[in-house]
Amino acid sequence: MSETFDLVVIGGGPAGYVAAIRAAQLGLKTAIVEKRGALGGTCLNVGCIPSKALLQSSHHYEVASHEFAHHGIKSKGFEVDLPAMMARKGKVVSELTQGIEFLMKKNKITYVAGEGVIAAAGEVQVTPAKGGAKQSLKTKNILVATGSDVTPLPGIAIDEKRIVSSTGALDLKKVPATMLVIGAGVIGLELGSVWRRLGAKVTVIEFLDHILPGMDGEVSKQMLRTLKKQGLEFKLSSKVTGAKAMNDGVEVTFEPRDGGATDKIRCEIVLVAVGRRPYTERLGLDKVGVEKDQRGFVKVDEDFQTNVAGIFAIGDVIGGAMLAHKAEDEGVVCVEIMSGQTGHINYDAVPAIVYTWPEVAGLGKTEEQLKAKNVAYKVGKFPFTANSRARTNADAEGFVKILADAQTDRILGAHIVGPEAGDLIQEVVVTMEFGGSAEDLARTCHGHPGLSEAVKEAALAALGRAIHI
Ligand code: NAI
Repeated sequence: MSETFDLVVIGGGPAGYVAAIRAAQLGLKTAIVEKRGALGGTCLNVGCIPSKALLQSSHHYEVASHEFAHHGIKSKGFEVDLPAMMARKGKVVSELTQGIEFLMKKNKITYVAGEGVIAAAGEVQVTPAKGGAKQSLKTKNILVATGSDVTPLPGIAIDEKRIVSSTGALDLKKVPATMLVIGAGVIGLELGSVWRRLGAKVTVIEFLDHILPGMDGEVSKQMLRTLKKQGLEFKLSSKVTGAKAMNDGVEVTFEPRDGGATDKIRCEIVLVAVGRRPYTERLGLDKVGVEKDQRGFVKVDEDFQTNVAGIFAIGDVIGGAMLAHKAEDEGVVCVEIMSGQTGHINYDAVPAIVYTWPEVAGLGKTEEQLKAKNVAYKVGKFPFTANSRARTNADAEGFVKILADAQTDRILGAHIVGPEAGDLIQEVVVTMEFGGSAEDLARTCHGHPGLSEAVKEAALAALGRAIHI
């Protein structure tokens, strides 16, 4: 390929493909290099999308098995057909990855299937996925969007069969009798929930004394109670030190985090979910002198420019919240800046969502963060038990909490545990993006009967005048 591109994006995940589309819209001649054999990255192929497909299927099974009677529907004999469930998940993934390929064509973006290496600023060499000679792509700018990979645990070898990462946990061939999850973060709780709903006895071992690190403390406590009630078992303040695959399962060794006797637990499947790390292997970054921080994240300035002119980076590989939507927004802003426009991201207005049931959504500051910074704030809280739609749905667990500045009333954070929390948080995201107040939310008309009325009521509660409680 002798043509010169304006932009070559390395990595076809949410960061990379969205950046490529926005670049094409801005008139940049763009190529995207992806080695996986499918676009969409971890999120679409082995992350957000397949996990949500299984969460939805397993939720239907749970509701059908345990909640229909409460609604006056007689039912018996529901069974899990795991191959069919997995096939549906696979179909969703492949349709969506093909959709992204279509979007590349529609936007006249050159999709190069292969492994890209930065040979120099202005040149990406690609080893084609299907074999054959290396291709050299000449370009004005390079955008690194290579994402992240599973963080391994010392002493534990992931084989994706019995000791699995999220990738293997999305593809088990049978429902295990027992599953041990290491890490009570987002992946551990979402995938632990899937397999518990489908029939596994799930135990979660967590290093910290609480689950869902980084989330508001009240949310974390509520979710611990809720998930225990659903049947998940937790061992908190415990550190996993090893796992040995045996003929009939896996033996996991753990010890109290603050010292004490070592313990052992036997299980059929172990899921390692202790975080993700930036993926920069064989990318040529060191050769061209791109700086990384101590944890291996590519260092960028506020314009997503690395220390090497013409090389930019976005998404999981630069750190911050490892979320697809944060990565997408960075992609858009980065190429807009590259094209001479201005832009920024308000990271306080990036929601974090956990797709358990009930869902969890967090936005902006937690109460713990506000206390640590001595910010004077007010709290408005409203339980879903007092929301009429939640009651009609028989789905009234959880609450909405709005945190607002005590003096100015500006919204500083919002935290929701409850039905559709991931979608409900979005109106608070918009309000925060516009610098809005609790009063703004409280005076906005909300359709009745709707779950979103709980958001309005929480805003009213922050002003001391909730109506329905
Ligand atoms: P995480 O960082 O959310 O949680 C990992 C947990 O493992 C932490 O609580 C940590 O204390 C614990 N841990 C670490 N070492 C341990 C040990 N030796 N023994 C016991 N516990 C230990 O990481 P996770 O869940 O793997 O997720 C990775 C990334 O993927 C996160 O950044 C997350 O935001 C993202 N993600 C987002 C989703 C969403 O938006 N719904 C879904 C899935 C993942």
